[in-house]
Amino acid sequence: MSERYERLMKCYECFKAKVDFTPKIALILGSGLGDYADGIDIRATLDYKNIEGFPVSTAPGHKGRFVFGYVGDVPVVVMQGRVHYYEGYPMEDVVLPVRLMKLMGAEVLFVTNAAGGVNWQFECGDFMLINDQICMAPSPLIGENLDELGPRFPDMSEIYSKKLRDIVKKTARELDVPLREGVYIQLTGPNYESPSEVRMVRTLGADAVGMSTACEAIAANHMGMKTVGISCISNLACGVSNRPLSHAEVQETADRVAPLFKKLITASVQNIAKEL
Ligand code: HPA
Repeated sequence: MSERYERLMKCYECFKAKVDFTPKIALILGSGLGDYADGIDIRATLDYKNIEGFPVSTAPGHKGRFVFGYVGDVPVVVMQGRVHYYEGYPMEDVVLPVRLMKLMGAEVLFVTNAAGGVNWQFECGDFMLINDQICMAPSPLIGENLDELGPRFPDMSEIYSKKLRDIVKKTARELDVPLREGVYIQLTGPNYESPSEVRMVRTLGADAVGMSTACEAIAANHMGMKTVGISCISNLACGVSNRPLSHAEVQETADRVAPLFKKLITASVQNIAKEL
């Protein structure tokens, strides 16, 4: 067994010793959305700092624990606070939580994030269903392959499950929640982009830009987890709007649309679980 896999298994054993819960769906909550977990039917929590070998998030607006509970009758694990590459962790650490949630039993990864709108049509506060991605951060699969988890050269032709995307689209229609669709690009951050960089990512085909998610989705795809993701367009990317960007603005927008976002996530989780 490789050292990397051993470390992951140690985290898993730590979870097993402390929590008796098998989630079906794993949720990762982005900036400003972390309090979604406080509203579910909570059965257990596990602070990241109490898991041996687990990277602890330092980003503002991110709490740092797993919440286990039910959304309706669907058992879920929610990451309240994710680990970002820009915090200085190696990619292997950044995706360790995703791998751990798969080992816990989660079949689906549901990711959310706050992202900058690159597409000219987008408005602040929009939701965007991620239909594909561009990962400009290093691949989390670099280094010795964890053969126990997945293949060396995994296919990435459908990172975001078409079936799950269709369910979320149908759910949004039923709730009358407007939902955009597009390509998410992950840059490393932590700085926001320059106007020229935003122009570059638009030329590359991106509709929204952020600092997370794509690497997590690659790790999930590697393990055969079905993935679905929604971005909250918390601001228009630099150059789309001529105002300077701030984390406060990102947080403010995320907070403002959070009630609607939560509604969409809750209904989507329940509709996805019906199909598993
Ligand atoms: N750029 C990158 N990441 C982000 C942004 C942005 O404009 N907004 C929220 N996360």
